[in-house]
Amino acid sequence: MKRFFMVTVFLVGIFISSNALADYSRSFEGRNLFMMYCYLCHGTDGKGNGPLVSRLKIGPNANLNLTDISKIGKRTDDELFGIIEGKKHDLVSDNMPKWGTLIGSSQIKGLVAYVRFLSQSKHPLLGDTEEGKRVYDTYCTACHGKKGKGDGVMMSIIPISPMDHSNAEKMDKLTNEELVNIVITGKGDKSFMPGWQGILSREQIGAVVSYIRYLSH
Ligand code: HEC
Ligand code: HEC
Repeated sequence: MKRFFMVTVFLVGIFISSNALADYSRSFEGRNLFMMYCYLCHGTDGKGNGPLVSRLKIGPNANLNLTDISKIGKRTDDELFGIIEGKKHDLVSDNMPKWGTLIGSSQIKGLVAYVRFLSQSKHPLLGDTEEGKRVYDTYCTACHGKKGKGDGVMMSIIPISPMDHSNAEKMDKLTNEELVNIVITGKGDKSFMPGWQGILSREQIGAVVSYIRYLSH
């Protein structure tokens, strides 16, 4: 009986921790992998100027620019997945490695989301996204929820709903400056969105605004 209990506790533990892994945006998860493996050729900004490109003598016609919407926009998620995994390599040259044996399929989905982010994102990032995630998780999720959907625990007692920060179409309409100003001053006396001046530094506010950009991709 005791052993059964231990096994149950163990399994529940695994369930909780694997859930926690998926607790943030896919593109943010993908970004971390991108900075480990993909920047070597595609560059940290995804534009294709990574440090390995000249060493590998990849032909001048190979287009490694993942920020190019005219190219990435034509690919389906399945195609991007297959290109990264390696099963759809008829679509690219052999200079693009096959990652399927190293990277699991849920992580490849994260990379697909990040490639979409690189090609669709309309606003430059203001700050360090890692720091931004820490700030968001610490100060914002009680109301905005882990994924920015506006479903945090506090929302059961707050009568005004925030925007869905995971909705790219809506969030893209707000400039970085507008987002920064909302976070600094809040949304006024009648609002439930507090101002963070004096609590968060300007760097932290830039960082959290960058993280909000990831939530919508
Ligand atoms: C060794 C260099 C190299 C590395 C590392 C690399 N790539 Fe590539 N990748 C390329 C090249 C070269 C191409 C262009 C393919 C061609 O020549 O047709 C490419 C193309 C792609 C494309 C297809 C773009 C399109 O639609 O045409 C995607 C998506 C991509 N890479 C994603 C990734 C991801 C994600 C990683 C990291 C897991 C990665 N690449 C790592 C070299 C690399
Ligand atoms: C006490 C709950 C609460 C906290 C904590 C909170 N917000 Fe809000 N936030 C709201 C509400 C409610 C709105 C909707 C606007 C209103 O109340 O007028 C909002 C609005 C916003 C908006 C404007 C777009 C939208 O969602 O409607 C941004 C951007 C925003 N919050 C960012 C943040 C950031 C970043 C943090 C953490 C540093 C944060 N919020 C913390 C409740 C909160």
